[in-house]
Amino acid sequence: MMTKTTMPIQSKEHPNLWIFEHPVIQDKLTRIRNRETQHAQFRRLLNEIAGLMFFQLSRHYQTKNIKVETPVERTEGCQLAHPITLVPILRAGVGMTDGILAMIPDARVGHIGVYRDEETKQPVPYYCKLPSDISDGPVLLIDPMLATGGSASYAATVLQEEYNCNDLQMVCLVAAPEGVEKIQVDHPDLLVYTASLDRWLNEHGYICPGLGDAGDRIFGTL
Ligand code: PRP
Ligand code: URA
Repeated sequence: MMTKTTMPIQSKEHPNLWIFEHPVIQDKLTRIRNRETQHAQFRRLLNEIAGLMFFQLSRHYQTKNIKVETPVERTEGCQLAHPITLVPILRAGVGMTDGILAMIPDARVGHIGVYRDEETKQPVPYYCKLPSDISDGPVLLIDPMLATGGSASYAATVLQEEYNCNDLQMVCLVAAPEGVEKIQVDHPDLLVYTASLDRWLNEHGYICPGLGDAGDRIFGTL
């Protein structure tokens, strides 16, 4: 029996992609993919996976030493050195955010609203609200689906070029090779964390095998 590591594995084909093979994450992902899974369970599983992935991808966050008074004596401890900002892409990114906030309740949450035009598959931006000092700490871009990569690349451009976010990572649930390659070209220093590198996009731009329309499945708007 081969033991899978809790750490994400770097993809051989795509050096900017890290894949979580952890059996608990893969079990939950399979339940999410199931077409019979309804929105309440879908949301719960998605948030659980997001929290598990965040726990590992936040390993590089810096801490600073502080003193703390226990009921017994004064001792040394530490706290996160910089403010953390989560940036879900509306709408589906919201479906992973609570799971991460359960791990780090002090995180700020910015929002980028962008949807994919059904015909052209191009991203259409409609909303952006971010902390003005977002670049003071790590930023996590959140969207369960990385398909063509248009939406994520647009959001990463806003964060890196308009808001100077130097410590930017992205987390998604499933990624298509097309999207991973677009991120590699457009944002070479952006690492993407995922539970699965899926096969490809079909003629409608859906990830195969994927899980369908993430926003509709999260919010019950099928
Ligand atoms: C989905 C998904 C991503 C985007 C991925 O959002 O949540 O944001 O598609 O596709 P891409 O990589 O080809 O850009 P959608 O456009 O369905 O909007 P919604 O979340 O508001 O439903
Ligand atoms: N957006 C989704 O929600 N699902 C896909 O498969 C592709 C884009």
